[in-house]
Amino acid sequence: MTTPPIIEFQPTEIDAIAATEGRVALLIGAEGKLDQAARRVNKLSRGALVRFVESEAFAKMKSGQAKTLAFPAGMAAEAIDVVRLERRPSQDDARKAGAALSKLRGDAALLLLAGSNSKVHEVALGLALRDYNFNAHKTAEASARGTITVMCSKPEETAAAAAPMAALAEGVFFTRDLTNEPANILTTEDFAARLAAMQEIGLDVEILEEDALEKLGMRLLLSVGHGSASPSKVVVMRWNGGEKDAAPLALVGKGVVFDTGGISLKPAGGMEDMTMDMGGAGVVSGVMRALALRKAPANVVGLVGLVENMPSDRATRPGDVVTSMKGDTVEIINTDAEGRLVLADVLWYAQQEYKPAAIVNLATLTGAMIIALGHENAGVFSNDDSFAADFLKSAAAEGEGAWQLPLSPAYDKLLDSRIADMKNIGGRPAGSITAGQFLQRFVQDGTPWIHLDIAGVASVKSETALAPKGATGWGVLALDRLVRDRFEG
Ligand code: BES
Ligand code: ZN
Ligand code: MN
Repeated sequence: MTTPPIIEFQPTEIDAIAATEGRVALLIGAEGKLDQAARRVNKLSRGALVRFVESEAFAKMKSGQAKTLAFPAGMAAEAIDVVRLERRPSQDDARKAGAALSKLRGDAALLLLAGSNSKVHEVALGLALRDYNFNAHKTAEASARGTITVMCSKPEETAAAAAPMAALAEGVFFTRDLTNEPANILTTEDFAARLAAMQEIGLDVEILEEDALEKLGMRLLLSVGHGSASPSKVVVMRWNGGEKDAAPLALVGKGVVFDTGGISLKPAGGMEDMTMDMGGAGVVSGVMRALALRKAPANVVGLVGLVENMPSDRATRPGDVVTSMKGDTVEIINTDAEGRLVLADVLWYAQQEYKPAAIVNLATLTGAMIIALGHENAGVFSNDDSFAADFLKSAAAEGEGAWQLPLSPAYDKLLDSRIADMKNIGGRPAGSITAGQFLQRFVQDGTPWIHLDIAGVASVKSETALAPKGATGWGVLALDRLVRDRFEG
């Protein structure tokens, strides 16, 4: 498991700077004013800091950016990293500043002289989130990571503000690890075992095996997993930190550990990317982890459908008709539209079993989502505009791109089937919307519901502001904030 770096907060100790090894970093606002610690760095480095701050190079720096003065004279440190950041920066700039420092440090120890900056805890979150590397399958011995120490004017207050953020970083790292993990390692069995291990942090975890799913009538979900040697499972994680008996928020995730398309086989090129097709379940798991670690005063239940979509003589065929747990029949036109089948049954089960106050489901559901919004925004679909607006607000506040698309009866009609209650695909036009319409058929009227299609944002091929290339953990921060703003207290 990849764990976020531990960040220590201490009072500023000017006399410790000269002998500090590794890297020393400073936050300096646009006006270039130096605080006491910065003045000491300047003195030790024989004026190098003032020369830099008065230079064109500093004037051109954007807020949140960092530049390095390497091997300063008069100091044991290998580098001084100067970050341009106002004393009262935006949350976004503060996180970016932290991320910039993480990139520069590599494995080196870091001492950040943060002075009286008002968003030191946000700088720390950016540092932690960008300090991720998926090295689980690199045989070279991992080099020891240097410590991160932050010296600031209110270390105790800052540490208290940073504590829930450390929980968030753990949640994000958990999501990224799950999403990056290849399918021969992260089988449905292995996934369930990793979730069961979260009982240690106070989550109540229940694993529904195939016989139980069969009894419940989750035939749509089971029909997806039929072709695989790995057994299908539904895992339920419960966090009851809120009022006793208060209806929970339900989070539902698509956990297709690998998607070949099944009998409707995908082309070979890029098929390896489908190791991330459990990204929705990964986000649900990461949010549950963060909520438990920060002991959130809210009731949240996370449900993930874990299956593998493989072709075999036991696999579902195009043309098969399968009955859902709800009772509606589905004509499977394309076995590659499997995520909606998994979610339909888990959504229905979540409503029957937990009577949730609201539902958010997440899935790497459609390639069409990437065509529509690329890798910048997840698609948001909802039956409740005020709930959707709340989520969009949470996502914007956390810098996670999200954009709402419509649902309507005209799109729903595209799912009508000649021989069953519905087809599992609606054709090429509006492919992401018809997938959303399919899901909505399994959501009871009156239950506020949001579907997040994260196909474009769960894992990306170039680095983002707070993550290296690969799994991003998109959604963990936004959903944690949604819980804080709408489901706590
Ligand atoms: N898991 C895929 C969607 C996907 C594609 C996620 C690319 C991430 C990146 C999903 O199961 C799928 O195959 N959807 C089909 C649906 C089609 C058959 C209607 C698709 O998008 O092609
Ligand atoms: Zn899929
Ligand atoms: Mn598919």
